[in-house]
Amino acid sequence: MRDPLTRKRYALIGAGHRASTFLHGLAVEHAGTAELVALADVNRTRMAAHNRRLSGLGADPVPEYPATDFLTMLDKESVDTVLVTTVDSTHDEYIVAALNAGRNVVTEKPMTTDPARCQRILDAVAATGGEVTVAFNYRYQPVFERLREIIAAGEIGEIGSVHFEWLLDTRHGADYFRRWHRDKANSGGLLVHKATHHFDLINWWLDSEPAEVYAQGRLFFYGPENAKLHGHDPAPFTLSLDEDPWLRELYQEARHEDGYRRDQDVFAPGVSIEDDLAVLARYHSGATLTYHLTAYSPWEGVRVMVNGSHGRLELEVVEADPGGQPHGSLWLRKFWQPPQQLPMSAEEGHSTADRRLCAALFGPAAEDPTGKRADHLAGARSLLTGFAANRSLVTGAPVRTTDLGVRL
Ligand SMILES: NC(=O)c1ccc[n+]([C@@H]2O[C@H](COP(=O)([O-])OP(=O)(O)OC[C@H]3O[C@@H](n4cnc5c(N)ncnc54)[C@H](O)[C@@H]3O)[C@@H](O)[C@H]2O)c1
Repeated sequence: MRDPLTRKRYALIGAGHRASTFLHGLAVEHAGTAELVALADVNRTRMAAHNRRLSGLGADPVPEYPATDFLTMLDKESVDTVLVTTVDSTHDEYIVAALNAGRNVVTEKPMTTDPARCQRILDAVAATGGEVTVAFNYRYQPVFERLREIIAAGEIGEIGSVHFEWLLDTRHGADYFRRWHRDKANSGGLLVHKATHHFDLINWWLDSEPAEVYAQGRLFFYGPENAKLHGHDPAPFTLSLDEDPWLRELYQEARHEDGYRRDQDVFAPGVSIEDDLAVLARYHSGATLTYHLTAYSPWEGVRVMVNGSHGRLELEVVEADPGGQPHGSLWLRKFWQPPQQLPMSAEEGHSTADRRLCAALFGPAAEDPTGKRADHLAGARSLLTGFAANRSLVTGAPVRTTDLGVRL
């Protein structure tokens, strides 16, 4: 039963691809407890596409505002909470403006892209007492939550180290080099844009945060020169927006407004992010991390090893593999005991995580015993590793996170 008096009123800024998940969650799945009241973006065509999609789903279309009328929208539509799903480097602008206007915020990851912007957000939360939630959907993936439970229960004792390898394949991984992400000024590079997820999971599992970070990385595969150097035909990397009606509507037909190309050549000039990154970190708990992110892998997924004083956890999740279906395995290896394969939920993956995230954000209040809901401090802590690693790439030296100028 819908109750217009108690439903929280949400507006979304950044009506791009990711917005669809939240719009569906708000206007379709959780319409009994939440209400979508407006959209804002710099691009009107994209907002109109979302409204058409909402109508197709049986939901009412909502008013559209140019991004410059953000504050007007908050007042006129009596917005309680703003969802920020814009380009990463613009998150801070809307988070701070919403907080200063007395609203709460749910922001997509990464919370922001550099230490100065991060501090602005922390200062605004301190000044206003407002609430910022970072939408870390990986916390809502059952197997990652399971790791948190197993470690918190002390099953493998105190954690000595984590070895974490994330692979992005030549389909999804390549996409970062076609879109705005390819410019570090927009995304902070993959150590921020993508690895914020991974460093958040590690902080959450360890219940700690990074103290010192060293990194090496480079553009090895994409970008000008590399296709020739490695003998790759650019053809399989070409994306045709015309072949996907939603991508055509959202980007091809919206290009005349802002000139944005979502289908850039991954080997064209202008790439300022890395595609191969190695990080070594020490945590306040004493644990160490070895981390590798590869954005040009034949399959996509993760391998994690957690070494404890009483045993070890080994996780492999294959999210995408041209040779087969997504699958995974989780092993608990205690000293002197045979390895134990732990059951994994039949429902893993992005869509499950997103469904659980939307239920937690927009559904009725529910218990959260593992602490999946991430606030501005978790958002900032997840960024410390990437910020320090980015600085280390420039200086060639280890970086203490206390030297980043972010006061938690
Ligand atoms: N957690 C996840 O699984 C996940 C997945 C995809 C994207 N994301 C995050 O969602 C956000 C959006 O990514 P996307 O893939 O939808 O990108 P997108 O390019 O499809 O959408 C970005 C939108 O922001 C708008 N925009 C750009 N600059 C703006 C500004 N200054 N003011 C207002 N609007 C502006 C664009 O017009 C566009 O509509 C990013 O922060 C990204 O990291 C998270």
